Amino acid sequence: MSPGRKKAGKPANQKTGPITLAVDIGGTGIKAQKLDHLGKPVSDRTRLLTPAKATPKKVLAIIGKLAAMQGEFDRVSVGFPGVVKDGVVYTAANLGNGWRNFPLQAELEKHLKRPVRVANDADVQGLGSVSGHGVELVITLGTGFGSVIFVDGRRIHLELGHHPFHKGKTYEDELGVRALKKKGKKKWNKLLGEALEDLQRTFNFDSMYIGGGNAKAITLKLPSNVKIVSNEQGLLGGIKLWQDSAR
Ligand code: BGC
Repeated sequence: MSPGRKKAGKPANQKTGPITLAVDIGGTGIKAQKLDHLGKPVSDRTRLLTPAKATPKKVLAIIGKLAAMQGEFDRVSVGFPGVVKDGVVYTAANLGNGWRNFPLQAELEKHLKRPVRVANDADVQGLGSVSGHGVELVITLGTGFGSVIFVDGRRIHLELGHHPFHKGKTYEDELGVRALKKKGKKKWNKLLGEALEDLQRTFNFDSMYIGGGNAKAITLKLPSNVKIVSNEQGLLGGIKLWQDSAR
């Protein structure tokens, strides 16, 4: 039987509302965890490696495995490392081929037999982090460089990662995981400081949030309106995705 198929139509926990399987597709690992209606984890996080040259077929197979490991759930939220509109993928810079126009949301619904919402990974992190007031910029530092801006809680996805930043290189070239490994923490932090100044001048944000696995490598003293946000907040985004009206 497919994961999540038992007791179709009934929430797994009627007292607290639907159980959401939150999935985060990264360039290095694919993670899954179940959350209650408040975003509180109700299972251990499971992680499998992102396969090399990760095609849609390979990624669907991994998500199927993670879902089976997690057991029952009512709905699924997915953070995807590329441009997604209305559940359809347009880009996937750090995955394999075959993603352009791939209807990931519809395919996952077929596979998992549950309602699914897919959005960009930085957007999901942002949904769980922002206050909903003023101009809030969110970046994520992981394999890639993710970005999204919220104006009074309304999200607009950005792809700053692939825009020029420094000496003809993009933000992702200079601040993605490959740059951190190659340049070392000190240089990477210096460049991050420059990026934050650039972004403040460009967007005049009131607050900025930094998420992603490499936020832990930050040693730089951050301006008072810039905060590091945790993975847990990113997970909460998986719940907020169900209340969000943006594409
Ligand atoms: C992608 C973004 C994504 C970011 C973080 C970039 O390469 O273009 O869409 O949010 O990586 O995964």
